[in-house]
Amino acid sequence: MNKPTVVSGIRPTGYLHLGNYFGAVRNFIKMQEDFNCFFFIADIHSLTTHPTPENLQAGVKQVLAEYLACGIDPEKATIFIQSDVPEVSELYAFLNMNAYLGELERTTSFKEKARKQPENVNAGLLTYPVLMAADIIIHKAHFVPVGKDQEQNLEMARKFAGRFNRMYNCELFPIPRPFTFDGKDMIKVPGLDGSGKMGKSEGNAINLYEDPKSIRKKVMRAVTDTGPTEPDSPKSEAVENLFTLMKIVSKPDVVEHFERLYNSCEIRYGDLKKQLAEDIISYTEPIRDRIIEILKDETYLAKVARQGSERARESALQTLNEVKQLIGFKSLF
Ligand code: TRP
Repeated sequence: MNKPTVVSGIRPTGYLHLGNYFGAVRNFIKMQEDFNCFFFIADIHSLTTHPTPENLQAGVKQVLAEYLACGIDPEKATIFIQSDVPEVSELYAFLNMNAYLGELERTTSFKEKARKQPENVNAGLLTYPVLMAADIIIHKAHFVPVGKDQEQNLEMARKFAGRFNRMYNCELFPIPRPFTFDGKDMIKVPGLDGSGKMGKSEGNAINLYEDPKSIRKKVMRAVTDTGPTEPDSPKSEAVENLFTLMKIVSKPDVVEHFERLYNSCEIRYGDLKKQLAEDIISYTEPIRDRIIEILKDETYLAKVARQGSERARESALQTLNEVKQLIGFKSLF
């Protein structure tokens, strides 16, 4: 039972949308079968934006419930909340002593966040990659599933892991590698605004938690064009996107039906959108129902969080003790 270890952090902000689901989340569900997975909610990281206690609490619960509803199985993967594992913060403190201002200031995510919140350029933002490195290496991770936006942070984690090994002349930490999903595992979900990608910050997303009424409203407002004027003409990007969404959530004969109507110039986008909205609703409704059910079950949520933190702490403490030995901390009592 020596499966490679995978660590991934999830920010407790907002809701999961269809893009997240068909991108990362479904792959996490598959990974929990073949890897020793640690999935955690990065609530300490989220303090860099100063959430209120209420928002923080609600956000943590919501993402936990959403990941469980999508199929993360707490019996297969270790799912936990970052702040429940204080060993991570301890390792973060140690790693900070060998993380340099220059390299931290140069990361694009720091520069971007500093630009976005100029009134709150705190030290936590600067050392964000150090905490992230602690998250990863405390479980001696071999792989980290990362999207494009996290590549540089992972590069920093690799640097800090290697630096520690060299500094203390050891091979304590494996150098974590990016785990990228290939084409067929990574379905790119387009936006409803004619853009290529569904994203929270793009404001074009449909959440898994979205209620049917709101799904209908968003889909009916999706961008289209003036319609094909001659048979078999190419589709505009906006219309192509609607077909792509349909291929993801609808039955093949439904897609074929609308393809035919498009190619014979008989298509009415209103009908296509109505169908698409209903198919998105059928697809997401069971997940939404499960989210609601799990959110109501405080006992279950507490049990998952406790069990996860126990397992994560066991793994973290083991590494931390080795780290302390190597650094030279020796208790005098
Ligand atoms: N920085 C990641 C994000 O913004 C979240 C995260 C925190 C993370 N710690 C991590 C991801 C460790 C992977 C591994 O999405």
